[in-house]
Amino acid sequence: MQDFIFHNPTKVAFGKNSIQQLATLLPKDSKVLLLYGGGSIKKNGVYDTVMQQLTTHEVVEFGGIEANPEYTTLMKAVELVKQHHIDFLLAVGGGSVVDGTKFVAAAAEFDGEPWDILAKGVEVKSAVPLGCVLTLPATGSETNIASVVNRSELGKKLSFLSEHVRPQFAVLDPQTTYSLPDRQLANGVVDAFVHVMEQYLTYPVNATVQDRFAEGILQNLIELGPRVFEKDNYEVRANLMWNATQALNGLIGAGVPQDWATHQIGHELTALYGLDHAVTLAIVLPQMMRHQRSDKREKLLQYASRVWHLDTSDEEAAIDQAIVKTEQFFQQMGMKIYLHEHNVEETVVRLVPRKLMENGMMSFGERGNLTPKDAELIIKAAL
Ligand code: NZQ
Ligand code: ZN
Repeated sequence: MQDFIFHNPTKVAFGKNSIQQLATLLPKDSKVLLLYGGGSIKKNGVYDTVMQQLTTHEVVEFGGIEANPEYTTLMKAVELVKQHHIDFLLAVGGGSVVDGTKFVAAAAEFDGEPWDILAKGVEVKSAVPLGCVLTLPATGSETNIASVVNRSELGKKLSFLSEHVRPQFAVLDPQTTYSLPDRQLANGVVDAFVHVMEQYLTYPVNATVQDRFAEGILQNLIELGPRVFEKDNYEVRANLMWNATQALNGLIGAGVPQDWATHQIGHELTALYGLDHAVTLAIVLPQMMRHQRSDKREKLLQYASRVWHLDTSDEEAAIDQAIVKTEQFFQQMGMKIYLHEHNVEETVVRLVPRKLMENGMMSFGERGNLTPKDAELIIKAAL
């Protein structure tokens, strides 16, 4: 196992009506900026429940954060933070709202051009404290240090990591997910699944806790997947929510090599074609598994055996079947796993490597041996 520090101080309030705990979770006397998305929280009652908890706080609102949060939108929120001397940010929504709020938190205290946080990786030294009420289980953003921001005028979707933007608390009430459309439920399952794969399907380092936890989450998601569409099934939604949080809260990724190449290529597909984040992962991951078949061989066999219970006496056949099982699972979730099914043209084969190069992604993957040329081959296979 590799050395690591594990520290995840986000306080999680999980369960039915956990939004009722918001008033006590928020710092007293803070001036709060409430950030949300395109209006789902107004339709499903979450906004009203949250506002009932904020009666003793001074509150300013900022709505309209898009799915794949837009830099220019977020910079308007940064202005509000400065204008109203806001000292706490409350994100209410899915991963995009939480990620967007993280960027606002960092940008509001950033000395310099905030775009450099994303484009040049300039270190974030402080941020406005934030908390969140999550309404879409998928990204893990609610307890982690990552944020992904889109700047469509430049065709760029870029991320940053900072301990300063880890939410102080995350309110997870599975009932808030009842209003999710099937498409977003499927996105959640697939995103969480691929988060585990990025941290698990690399090479063995004898990290037995991380491996078994990862395999447990994958098996849970395989079992839960088809059931997440059941209306108002609290147990299923609660388990989806906690699996998605655990998939990317740092625990299974501590002390192990991590990949993230599927995400890096996926972000370029979203930036170019506006495809949903999870949709891009369902397209890229199976071809990534095929392309990295020899580098990932030992873990592919472990995955075949422990996650899919395949007979590995014929190793090549087991790996083939494990990849097909993964594809079938995504398809069962309603995902189209080829680019042509999304009407993406062949020019994508040239565009993705070019974008990766523009963004300085010259070597990636757990061994750092993937190049834009490999991305080209993976995309070609996904056409
Ligand atoms: O904007 P509103 O009206 O709220 O609608 C949203 C949005 O249209 C809707 N929605 C959310 N909760 C709902 C709901 N509709 C009905 N009922 C509810 N309870 O769902 C739509 C999608 O929301 P979004 O927040 O974009 O989805 P998701 O949570 O999947 O987040 C995706 C974003 O997270 C980034 C992705 O790149 C993408 O930008 N990621 C962030 C990560 C992180 N911070 O660690 C890791 C991930 O790999 C990912 O990259
Ligand atoms: Zn993801």
